[in-house]
Amino acid sequence: MPVHASSSGWILESRRTAYALGLNSDRLLVHRYWGTRLPDLSDYPPAADSVGWASFNGPGQVVPEEYAAYGGLRYLEPCLKATFADGVRDLVLVYREADIADETLTLTLADAHYPLTVRLHYRIHPDFDLIERWAEFVNSGDQPITLERALSACWHVPPGDDYRLTHLTGRWYDEMHLRRDPLPHGVTLLESRRLTTSHHHNPYFALDRGATETTGDVYFGALAWSGNWKLMAEVTDFGSTRVSLGLNDWDFDWTLDGGASFTTPPSLAGYSDSGFGAASRTLHDYIRQRVLPHGPIAHKVLYNSWEATYFDVDVASQARLADLAAAMGVELFVVDDGWFHGRNDDRAGLGDWWPDAAKFPDGLGPLVEHVNRLGMDFGLWIEPEMVNPNSDLYRGHPDWVIHFPTRARTEARNQLILNLAREDVRAYLVEKIDALLSAHPIRFIKWDMNRNISEPGWPALGDRQQPVLGDRQRELWVRYVEGVYALWDDLRQRHPDVIWQSCSGGGGRADLGILRRADQIWVSDNTEAPARLAIQEGFSLIFPANVMEAWVTDSGDRHVPLKFRFHVSMCGTLGIGGHLLKWTESERAEAARLIAQYKAVRDIIQLGDQYRLISPRMGGFSAVQYVAKDQMASVIFAFRTHLPTPAILPRLYPNGLDPTARYRLEGSSETRSGLGWMRVGIDIALTDFDSAMLVLRRSE
Ligand code: GLA
Repeated sequence: MPVHASSSGWILESRRTAYALGLNSDRLLVHRYWGTRLPDLSDYPPAADSVGWASFNGPGQVVPEEYAAYGGLRYLEPCLKATFADGVRDLVLVYREADIADETLTLTLADAHYPLTVRLHYRIHPDFDLIERWAEFVNSGDQPITLERALSACWHVPPGDDYRLTHLTGRWYDEMHLRRDPLPHGVTLLESRRLTTSHHHNPYFALDRGATETTGDVYFGALAWSGNWKLMAEVTDFGSTRVSLGLNDWDFDWTLDGGASFTTPPSLAGYSDSGFGAASRTLHDYIRQRVLPHGPIAHKVLYNSWEATYFDVDVASQARLADLAAAMGVELFVVDDGWFHGRNDDRAGLGDWWPDAAKFPDGLGPLVEHVNRLGMDFGLWIEPEMVNPNSDLYRGHPDWVIHFPTRARTEARNQLILNLAREDVRAYLVEKIDALLSAHPIRFIKWDMNRNISEPGWPALGDRQQPVLGDRQRELWVRYVEGVYALWDDLRQRHPDVIWQSCSGGGGRADLGILRRADQIWVSDNTEAPARLAIQEGFSLIFPANVMEAWVTDSGDRHVPLKFRFHVSMCGTLGIGGHLLKWTESERAEAARLIAQYKAVRDIIQLGDQYRLISPRMGGFSAVQYVAKDQMASVIFAFRTHLPTPAILPRLYPNGLDPTARYRLEGSSETRSGLGWMRVGIDIALTDFDSAMLVLRRSE
């Protein structure tokens, strides 16, 4: 039984970790412990008493409350803020009952006076050493209650004010950079106000006090949400540290009508006693096995024609590229932007999701058949949430976009955002996309989203057939994302075999929420191999390699050898996006060899355990390793970008091998035990912009 109840509260145990909480002598719900699983239930500390500090601080400042609600003498960041119909905005949550079902503990609290019930859910994932938390609010009265903040969880780490925060930050074309900063006293805020997860920060955290990739305590977590989110790492004046995260309350409120309920997105967190690498591998396993709609599958080698033909898409141009791609061993051919009605540049067409008659006079059929005849699957790009003012859709439904009636509609990339909270908008999109997927054997969809929000309004419709938001305008942030999820879920259900990719101008929508729908993420529009190293490292903090689509393109410095560019992309799901007509015959032959090499090891890379051996942040040289789950083989990639001469490259020490098994280094006669390889290490000689792929295989 992973959830234990006793007189001192509840203990959630996973294979190696435990999380304890309980009611203190004042029946306040208090955090007790999080970390290594202890031998005996009596080892866990009791809930701390409600002590304050002079007349200036109530227990709310001193005691680690599990889910603090704004009210009384509380000045730290609360999880919940609400206003009742009579204007009172002070919450007094009283514990009512606990319920344990399977692996989930549900604690019910209720306001002492008002008809607001709060249910805190804790689901333990014993095999993954992870805990999932979310909250639910029920208004059992008949007057509305306004929620002004409704976070998913507050994660308390062991007492201390000397933690570092690891997080991912960046911008378009430069996402996912790993940052590790000492946490100052006070609140460190990371968030998105952009309607999507955003390129700028990711709803992920890791807290440590001197951990490394392979050693030390790391507390980490994430939020499964693809819209505005907020993460507050707070170091208190009483020597404690916590991370609260959930829906962003910036420009948010939610009216809970009588009888209605509201559920937050889940937050997932875990503890590793073996450094950042183990924390990442835990998330990778969980995502592959529990989150991804198709489970732990390895993806096909893809070709995408975007960077070759941009908007100049027609049967002839695509067929020529398809011929070359198939000859190289590509398995999936994807036509990107430019194929649909009126789409000759980025100024028109979005919303009109049927093939452009000039480019495809007989529809997509002939091209799809050509691609299939070559033995490849066919895939397509769409951007369902968007509309160009220059489109049939917009001319027919100018009211379908997010806007304020008295304001200009700010365009970005000449496009506006369709209000996916509206059922009629979703119905239109289901009809159009379903028609495409039903008419052709389309096996892959790249779902893009190329701008952030402006004028976040949802004017009520005159005919009142749609939900009239009126003063509920700030619910749009949540209702929109729920609409995206609903549309995606609907299409998935109709076409369960399609592989979907989440793209938002690169990695603008990469999170655990979208991964319940999308099988892959397009990490960045930046496909320059040297730049990708750091982006891919950051991405690997959370996401496994089979989720990471990575193309070999012609972008950037073409003196970076093709092999180097391939090796960088082979660290995920390999794709090719270069202009194949411009590649020489010998380049295409080299590509074919590299694709064949990749296919021989892709299961190890995409589905194995990843070890970040040397970080690209060290500068000039980096290495990453993948070990098959059955430890039968391992792949190591090493990259040297630029290092001034003379440079002494660090020796690589593989990880994760079976210590007693013997492994042979492919292409050599060198054989050693797993322990031998891990302790003796491997020296690799590389010149600037050179790379290597090493394969160790069990020899007996
Ligand atoms: C976005 C994507 C690109 C490409 C273009 C097409 O920028 O990230 O990969 O699909 O849109 O317009």
